[in-house]
Amino acid sequence: MLDGMEAGDRISGEDLLGRLAPGGPWTRIVCLAVADSTNDRAMEMAAGGAPHGTVVVAEAQTSGRGRQGRTWVSPPGRNIYVSLLLRPAIPVPEAPRLSLVAGVALAEAVEGAGVPCFLKWPNDLYVAGRKAAGILAEMASDAGRVRHVVVGVGINVNMPANEIPARLRGRATSLAIHAKRVLPRVEVLARFLDAFAARYRDFLAGGFPAVRPGWERRDFLRGKPILLRKDGAERWGTADGLDEAGALRFLPDGGTAAESVHSGEILEFRR
Ligand code: BTN
Repeated sequence: MLDGMEAGDRISGEDLLGRLAPGGPWTRIVCLAVADSTNDRAMEMAAGGAPHGTVVVAEAQTSGRGRQGRTWVSPPGRNIYVSLLLRPAIPVPEAPRLSLVAGVALAEAVEGAGVPCFLKWPNDLYVAGRKAAGILAEMASDAGRVRHVVVGVGINVNMPANEIPARLRGRATSLAIHAKRVLPRVEVLARFLDAFAARYRDFLAGGFPAVRPGWERRDFLRGKPILLRKDGAERWGTADGLDEAGALRFLPDGGTAAESVHSGEILEFRR
């Protein structure tokens, strides 16, 4: 049903602005037909003085970037590729938590569109056991102060199964595949920006503990056996939620206490 879908619902800044709740941080919406990477565009705009609350959206990306140097598949007209430029007055170690904040907002938006979902630490959104969205947050800092953060989000909204590259089949999905209908991308994006505005306010007021319950409620890995790669070493253990700082609590097989993992990669998990 999705295979013959026309890629006709181009996102316009005016339409998007008209859907946003008042009071959000959004100051400027930049809609591009094509970007190499919306994160790169937003970082460049930030360096040129663009204001806090700038939103960069593209219909397609030619060099979409994922975590760990991976490519983010970014065909035109199907999905959402968006980057948020933020200039928060927070200490540098707090900045990486913004991607967890974005995860909670993303889940609220996807659920609001009628699609149940989970969050996989650190930055993935899962629908029916497969990845449907990812987050790539990047920061520039100066003498221990955050200059700006760019939170980039890719959401597979209307990509039909036959457009998912073979190497990702079985691991990736789109919202429409699950919903069995085409979803208006501008509506999903507006939901995300509104949800982010609310969770960002919570985060600035109360730090990660203020958004942690929303994350933990949707924790995809909790209680599952996982294979973790950290500092070049691979170990099996069990995921045990997140700590107050947003680090993954990892109980190594054969160990007696949970470790807090601030950065690492989940290579495998068992259901
Ligand atoms: C991941 O799961 O690996 C993160 C994917 C992030 C993709 C988005 S799409 C918009 C923004 N621009 C990029 O080049 N990457 C992010």
